[in-house]
Amino acid sequence: MKITLSVLKADVGGFVGHSHSHPDILKKAREMLEEAKNDNKIIDFYVTACGDDLELIITHNKGIENKEVHGIAWSIFTETSKLAKELKLYGAGQDILKTTFSGNLRGLGPGVAEMEFEERESEPVIIFMADKTEPGAFSLPLYKMFGDAFNTPGLVIDPNMRGGFSFDVHDVKKHRHVWLHLPEEMYKLLGLIGTVGRYEIKSVIRREDNEIAAVTSTERLNLIAGKYVGKDDPVLIVRAQHGFPDVGEILEPFAIPHFVAGWNRGSHNGPLMPVPQRYANTSRFDGPPRIIALGFQLNNGKLEGPVDMFDDPAFDDARRQAIEMANYIRRNGTFQPHRLEEDEMEYTKITAVEKELEEAKRFEKL
Ligand code: 13P
Ligand code: 13P
Ligand code: MG
Ligand code: MG
Repeated sequence: MKITLSVLKADVGGFVGHSHSHPDILKKAREMLEEAKNDNKIIDFYVTACGDDLELIITHNKGIENKEVHGIAWSIFTETSKLAKELKLYGAGQDILKTTFSGNLRGLGPGVAEMEFEERESEPVIIFMADKTEPGAFSLPLYKMFGDAFNTPGLVIDPNMRGGFSFDVHDVKKHRHVWLHLPEEMYKLLGLIGTVGRYEIKSVIRREDNEIAAVTSTERLNLIAGKYVGKDDPVLIVRAQHGFPDVGEILEPFAIPHFVAGWNRGSHNGPLMPVPQRYANTSRFDGPPRIIALGFQLNNGKLEGPVDMFDDPAFDDARRQAIEMANYIRRNGTFQPHRLEEDEMEYTKITAVEKELEEAKRFEKL
């Protein structure tokens, strides 16, 4: 049976500030999806939050970019935004940038990752959800999962993986994309995706049979709105085992935290900290950026799970290291590379300083 797994997310309002999600928002989303499930519009769902982002995990058999499924998500995001306004939550409706829905969430503000596939005899999937960062945060871990045999011995051991994987790389600034094929184009891939704010991996497929392996949300709010209105806190779906990386290989890249863009005011580099669901709330300096990983086994589209994959002492040291990295980079205060490049900063008011001084004719020729 062909199953579509859709993860749709939006920041509809933070509680308190940009730190957590309000329980009434999650309740409302669950009620609305329960109704859709009872009406047989979807197969199953799971609702959660990462920080101030509402995450809808939905299974159905209507294919990707389906009008009805996106419509359900859109009505949930608009209804919960209304509720967030009533509750006077912070940044209510933050990711709802357009008022009219025309069949698809693309370009409206929310983030989407979805894939359609024939459900295997056993279909384990891992869904990653992050707050206070951007889709480029997934480039390094995706490269490790699908391109680096030191992370993923399956690339060497599993005959079904030895043919390698292809990466669809989006250039979010020039609105174009390119497929790169590993292992032979590894250096070209790294050449591009090292520029994390510009090149983002949209999906990964297995070369042998073009089977979908991973997909991210790359909707970029700043480009949608024509100005920077928020980092697009991203989600990622990865299929596991049997011709794909195993669960451990998928989680392994997060054992060594890397620096990502986002954190306070969406304007700072900081470590990506892997946390269990109960710690998926930001605090210190509005962070540090964090990521959760929920594992499910699909059962004819039914979501068996979740298992909270980072709720494991094996990731304690990653968390400790992330805090150490946070302590270290915080020393830079408002200086780069803690602070992002000007054009990457979410609150671009920093250029106003230059403008103000120019207007006051305070700059003199050297
Ligand atoms: P089991 O022998 O427990 O099935 O594990 C196999 C495997 O692939 C572990 O990564
Ligand atoms: P969010 O992108 O999670 O809403 O956070 C924005 C922010 O300003 C944090 O300081
Ligand atoms: Mg917010
Ligand atoms: Mg957020």
